[in-house]
Amino acid sequence: MSLYSSDAFKGEHILITGATGGIGSATAKTLVELGASVTLTGRDQGKLKELKEALERDYPQNDIHICACDLGDRKERKRLIDFALNKSGTITKLVNNAGIYEYGKVEDLTEESLNKIMSINYTSTVLLTQQVYEHMKTLKKGAIVNIASLSGLRGNIGNTAYVASKFALVGFTHCIALEAIQYGIRVNAVCPGFVDTNMGITVIDTKGENSTFEEKRKMVESGIPSGRITTPQEVANSIVFLLSDAAENIIGESLKISGGAVLR
Ligand SMILES: NC(=O)c1ccc[n+]([C@@H]2O[C@H](COP(=O)([O-])OP(=O)(O)OC[C@H]3O[C@@H](n4cnc5c(N)ncnc54)[C@H](OP(=O)(O)O)[C@@H]3O)[C@@H](O)[C@H]2O)c1
Repeated sequence: MSLYSSDAFKGEHILITGATGGIGSATAKTLVELGASVTLTGRDQGKLKELKEALERDYPQNDIHICACDLGDRKERKRLIDFALNKSGTITKLVNNAGIYEYGKVEDLTEESLNKIMSINYTSTVLLTQQVYEHMKTLKKGAIVNIASLSGLRGNIGNTAYVASKFALVGFTHCIALEAIQYGIRVNAVCPGFVDTNMGITVIDTKGENSTFEEKRKMVESGIPSGRITTPQEVANSIVFLLSDAAENIIGESLKISGGAVLR
């Protein structure tokens, strides 16, 4: 069900990172469905092309731009922003969704793995946002949604590097949200628990040794009051809500999507 009209995001040009992944592609599709033009990025050029073709087939009236880019590279980030601004002259909204996950208990952490996760999930996100923020300040409006995680709100076993990177992202969301108010820019985060994507599957697979994947999934779902993990579409819906004018006075939030798991 859509809460929005098909032109709710008309006139918006939205940059979505991690668009080749589960949550990113669902978000791209939903925003395009609601009239937005988008620039989609990820590293996988083939997947970006496929997504663009599928969206153009269903929504031929929208502008769909793609730009493959490794967000860990400063020059690539600059190339991405230049590309998006060249294509449409503006970036009115930003979805910081790209992220990586690696399991590792404290004794197994290496400087390399800590730096890698922090670099993509936090540092690159902040530096990309900084560039888009400078542009949004000239517009005197904008909205940014950072995809953090329940792991950005509480710790869990085997996830020091990932948890720290998402706590950092939530902290960044709080700070920039306050600084950005004066420019009419709203910043929020969404914090999903397990989501049914490649990353979600990887995380579930780290649970319960000597069990099949199906057993692990059942075990995870039995710990969630709603009895199931979240779909990428449900996360996309929350992102779209926070980007929309319907969320006008929602600022610096960390919207949890947990199926009630946070209440246990
Ligand atoms: N799935 C979950 O259970 C879950 C729960 C809470 C939060 N999250 C967060 O939700 C976000 C999306 O995750 P997902 O579940 O949709 O995972 P996914 O399907 O694995 O997608 C991850 C995305 O990040 C992109 N990415 C990774 N490294 C990159 C880099 N160096 N440069 C550019 N893009 C890069 C990937 O692009 P390429 O593959 O094209 O490089 C891909 O599009 C992440 O931030 C994740 O931490 C996920």
